[in-house]
Amino acid sequence: MGKQPNLFSFELKKLTKLLRQYIVKIQHESFARYKDDKDKVFKVGVSGGSLPKILAQALLAPSEGPDDVIEFEKWEIFFADERAVKLDHEDSNYRLLKEELLNKIQDKQPKVHTIDESLLDNTGELAAEYAEQLVSVFARRDSVKTPTFDLLLLGCGPDGHTCSLFPGHDLLRETENWVYPIEDSPKPPARRITLSLPVVNHAHRICFVATGAGKKEVLSSVFEGGVHGDEAKGLPIALINEAAGDRVSWFVYEEAVQGVRYPRRGSL
Ligand code: 6PG
Repeated sequence: MGKQPNLFSFELKKLTKLLRQYIVKIQHESFARYKDDKDKVFKVGVSGGSLPKILAQALLAPSEGPDDVIEFEKWEIFFADERAVKLDHEDSNYRLLKEELLNKIQDKQPKVHTIDESLLDNTGELAAEYAEQLVSVFARRDSVKTPTFDLLLLGCGPDGHTCSLFPGHDLLRETENWVYPIEDSPKPPARRITLSLPVVNHAHRICFVATGAGKKEVLSSVFEGGVHGDEAKGLPIALINEAAGDRVSWFVYEEAVQGVRYPRRGSL
């Protein structure tokens, strides 16, 4: 059996503090892959939902020393999934990230890759154009076959979905493209684009952030195989845990894993 995902569970304040330390650590690890300072870039994918707010609490906190620095100007941010709406629409993940985080960054801004609003009528074209944006950043250095994000920051739904990859959906079997359209998302709005499962699994690090007692049932089935046993097996979050092993870290508000016996990590 491969190495297991890391589970951190704390109350919110401690959780955001540790999440910040984790992101800073992964940022340093990523920079260390470059010889030249001027080439350093941190390639990050983010989801919507409750994540941007928690992320902002972690990333906008005051620095605790010279090593505790978020170098936003070296970040390239992509959306792990995005809704097919205008960028200023209330359903837009970009708008959410902008309001929660980007607008509040004091220093230089990260480079943020948004969807092309002129293609909203055709989700296939929207996904293909977004994949082209990934090619422009990833294909130069990494294997062209699958892009390698330095870090994916993802949420998870009570049904075990992540990004816009939903349980039992045909998209889970797609391996050809980097980004896919979805027209029948069970979580509204229905029309979206999402990174493919192989792209998620291929990231250097995958970080799930989950809050809320509503996720207790699905997390207990994924982490314990317990009450629901095999039911968890095909769930998107379980597939990622299985494929990426200890490259996955879960930062979970403790009420979401209450009673789950899976071993917690106390520090990074
Ligand atoms: C989206 C999200 C989605 C989200 C989960 C968790 O655009 O809908 O990217 O995958 O992360 O549904 O959402 P919560 O954190 O709000 O529970």
